Amino acid sequence: MDVEYIKDQLTFHRDFPKKGIVFLDIFPLLRDPITFETLITHFVHHVTSYTITKSPTRKIDVIVGLDARGFLLGPIIALRLGAAFVPVRKQGKLPGPCVGASYEKEYGVDIFEMQENAIQPGQSVIVIDDLIATGGSARAAGELVAKQGGKTLEYLFIIELMFFRAGTKLDAPAYSIVQSD
Ligand code: ADE
Repeated sequence: MDVEYIKDQLTFHRDFPKKGIVFLDIFPLLRDPITFETLITHFVHHVTSYTITKSPTRKIDVIVGLDARGFLLGPIIALRLGAAFVPVRKQGKLPGPCVGASYEKEYGVDIFEMQENAIQPGQSVIVIDDLIATGGSARAAGELVAKQGGKTLEYLFIIELMFFRAGTKLDAPAYSIVQSD
């Protein structure tokens, strides 16, 4: 099954980037084109068979990708769906007027920004990142979508770290392909 196939190729690194963190590495998935294709197709199938039914227009308008690994997945999924791609970046990286939201991570504090008017009021939005841990970055991204009047239908992740129970605490459902302790 595609989930087992994806799961089998994830690797982990102890004490990275700090002591005590077990870092799950998604890059091996992208190294193999068949795995990468399987991963993207899995997300697109999920969105077109489930998430899209939550949209009043039966269309996803915007995929929001989180800095940095959300940028590797979001644009490809956006193209497949005929949706816009909008990046959320760490403070100071995006030009022009931006909206901001702060968040606490598993290891530190940060501010996320999105370019003003990147999302139009009423648009149906999906937020994507590689992994959800504490959910702080996803929550900040959801805040930015809401500030622009967008409606987040779902949060997508390759991996959810179940220990933090963050997936159930967002303003929309979270979907993850792999659940890890
Ligand atoms: N981001 C936050 N926590 C992480 C972890 N344990 N592995 C990979 N990315 C992360």
